[in-house]
Amino acid sequence: MYKKPYFIFAIVLTAFLSFIITITSRAEEPPEPDHGLQSKYVGSATCARCHANTYASFSQTWHPNMLRRADDTNILGDFNSQDPDLVFTRDQVQWVLGGQYKQRYLTEVDGELFVLLSEWNVETQDWTAYVTGEWIPYEGQIWRNRPYGPYCAGCHTTGYDPASQTWVEPGVGCEACHGPGADHVASTGNRTKIINPARLDFQEQADVCAQCHSRGTDPSGDYPYPVGYHPGGPAKLNETFIPSTNPDDFWPDGTVKRHHMQFQDWQQGTHKDSVSCIFCHTSHSPGETDHQTRMVKNDRCLVCHQNQADLAEHIPFMASAVDKVNCTDCHMPQVSKFVPSDFQILSHTFRPPNPALSIAYGGQEQMPNACNICHADQSPEWAAAVLGQAIPEGQATRVPLPTPLPVSTQVVPVANISAEGGPPSLSQVSASGPNIWLWGLSIAALVGIFGYIVWRRLKVSLT
Ligand code: HEC
Ligand code: HEC
Ligand code: HEC
Ligand code: HEC
Ligand code: HEC
Ligand code: HEC
Ligand code: HEC
Ligand code: HEC
Repeated sequence: MYKKPYFIFAIVLTAFLSFIITITSRAEEPPEPDHGLQSKYVGSATCARCHANTYASFSQTWHPNMLRRADDTNILGDFNSQDPDLVFTRDQVQWVLGGQYKQRYLTEVDGELFVLLSEWNVETQDWTAYVTGEWIPYEGQIWRNRPYGPYCAGCHTTGYDPASQTWVEPGVGCEACHGPGADHVASTGNRTKIINPARLDFQEQADVCAQCHSRGTDPSGDYPYPVGYHPGGPAKLNETFIPSTNPDDFWPDGTVKRHHMQFQDWQQGTHKDSVSCIFCHTSHSPGETDHQTRMVKNDRCLVCHQNQADLAEHIPFMASAVDKVNCTDCHMPQVSKFVPSDFQILSHTFRPPNPALSIAYGGQEQMPNACNICHADQSPEWAAAVLGQAIPEGQATRVPLPTPLPVSTQVVPVANISAEGGPPSLSQVSASGPNIWLWGLSIAALVGIFGYIVWRRLKVSLT
């Protein structure tokens, strides 16, 4: 009878432990093992519990859908095609990347992911061989030199840890731009415990987007993304990222030539001092037109550039055709490559078209200008004359770039591919609520049984 207090103590302890476990556990917590900072990430589905509307519209954008588990609804490529550029089968595809301009595919071997060597071009609806950089044959399977983790995952996933090659969430989730959210959630929404890019200083705000919309490497040169950077973190972007110095990435005047480099363009233009990415782009909603812009057509520019509102006055040389052109046609021409054959990405320097520069650098092929993209049957000399530009003499030297850093070809093992890709639906998200309780209660029950056994043994050994 005198052992009753122990029994009561065991019950109280069990109840207390189960309470603690239940309130601290979250269904979306990163998978074991815990890799330090990763435990500070909770995943977008957790944010959705309190920010349901934001989550719902965010789910319709490309960011969270960048990396998804392959299924019949998201594979766009035609696997019945006889195209020789298609070098693998549908069965090999476990994950899909993107699908707006192009889609690439990943295959999983022993928990490692590799990029397969054909890409589907959405616009032209055909396959292109995808081989870039140095390749070393690996057991005869060349694609095994393109491990997804070290080469790509840092920009397509959230909470990525290169050391363990694991991520918290596939796709660009809330915390990619807001930083790890565990403290904000634990404080039931304390606004000082989460990064709001709108409240950061101008450069740090741009860095939030620049971490992925740039080309370069981390300081070790092994990873093409800023290892160790996260919004609000102690390491700044310029300490964790060395921008590309590869001449193949730039036109001779410094304008970027390849995709995911919008930041490097923007930095060269006059907008870098006052017009940030998030002034023009929405982050959580599809926006008003393509590519998540806040406003439509010329309104996007005229909101600030009232002087150019009368296009006939701004471009008198083609006053008859003002209804056929937009600001972006001349100030954001498509001069960056997405697929090898095609330029689909818009320039973000916002510089005025400059045919004289095309002449100085050896022609439209060497240095495109917006006028001759439309007026392809005319020469840069014609366009320069229309604009009243002087025709430059001799060949200009290219804007100098520092020596390129070596690109690592080392194959780093990838492990532990975890969660499903793409954002779960809102109903799935809210259904995850009760699971926490179930989980907490199961652990509490186990602790209770264990406590009871210990108590029984103690009792036996005491008597
Ligand atoms: C691509 C970057 C990015 C992602 C991803 C992102 N946000 Fe944001 N968020 C921003 C920016 C930038 C702002 C500042 C206001 C703005 O530009 O809309 C912001 C503002 C907010 C705000 C403040 C209120 C408001 O709308 O201005 C909340 C709340 C928020 N985000 C929640 C979320 C949640 C929840 C998710 C995921 C479902 C998410 N964000 C994903 C960039 C992002
Ligand atoms: C438990 C509910 C809850 C969860 C879960 C939650 N938030 Fe919040 N969040 C809030 C509340 C409440 C506010 C408003 C705070 C205020 O106005 O003082 C807020 C505000 C914000 C803001 C605006 C901060 C500012 O500067 O005004 C951002 C950004 C944000 N949340 C992002 C997130 C992200 C990202 C996640 C997931 C990692 C998340 N929230 C999860 C409740 C939550
Ligand atoms: C973690 C990496 C990452 C971060 C951070 C990030 N992006 Fe992105 N962004 C991507 C990827 C990857 C895509 C391509 C998604 C796809 O096509 O599936 C993309 C696509 C876009 C697009 C094109 C969307 C469309 O509909 O065409 C815009 C615009 C964009 N990002 C703007 C931003 C802005 C602005 C920020 C900062 C507030 C930002 N991004 C932060 C990785 C990122
Ligand atoms: C430094 C960040 C970064 C790295 C590293 C990176 N990407 Fe991306 N990727 C982006 C961004 C940002 C976009 C969207 C904007 C753009 O393309 O201009 C994108 C777009 C894509 C798209 C097109 C998506 C669509 O909807 O059309 C594919 C496919 C893709 N990346 C595959 C890869 C592969 C494969 C690797 C590794 C070999 C890789 N990326 C490495 C940032 C990155
Ligand atoms: C002055 C406004 C403005 C600013 C600033 C701006 N963008 Fe854009 N961006 C646009 C417009 C306009 C488009 C094209 C939209 C369309 O096709 O209708 C675009 C397109 C894009 C796209 C789609 C792919 C492409 O390049 O064609 C991405 C990604 C993007 N922007 C990212 C960024 C990032 C990252 C920053 C900051 C470094 C940024 N933008 C700054 C206006 C802007
Ligand atoms: C938030 C206000 C704002 C928006 C929106 C904006 N701009 Fe600007 N723009 C500026 C400022 C400020 C400057 C630099 C000061 C100046 O020269 O007037 C500038 C400069 C320019 C220049 C001169 C660049 C040079 O190198 O000489 C061009 C061209 C330009 N913007 C085009 C555009 C286009 C095209 C858009 C729409 C896609 C746009 N701007 C949207 C504020 C804006
Ligand atoms: C047909 C091509 C074309 C179109 C369309 C066009 N521009 Fe321009 N823009 C130019 C050229 C060329 C210049 C350089 C003029 C000069 O140096 O005198 C220029 C210069 C500018 C400048 C810099 C002015 C300065 O004083 O330095 C701004 C700002 C600008 N444009 C904004 C716009 C806006 C906003 C729109 C849409 C309403 C627009 N442009 C449409 C060709 C165009
Ligand atoms: C988006 C495509 C586009 C861009 C960019 C563009 N133009 Fe045009 N331009 C047109 C169209 C369309 C017409 C109308 C002529 C027609 O219908 O054939 C035109 C007409 C002209 C005309 C009238 C003579 C003619 O050939 O009919 C001149 C001169 C001209 N553009 C010069 C320029 C210059 C210089 C630039 C660069 C600053 C430029 N254009 C940029 C599409 C463009």
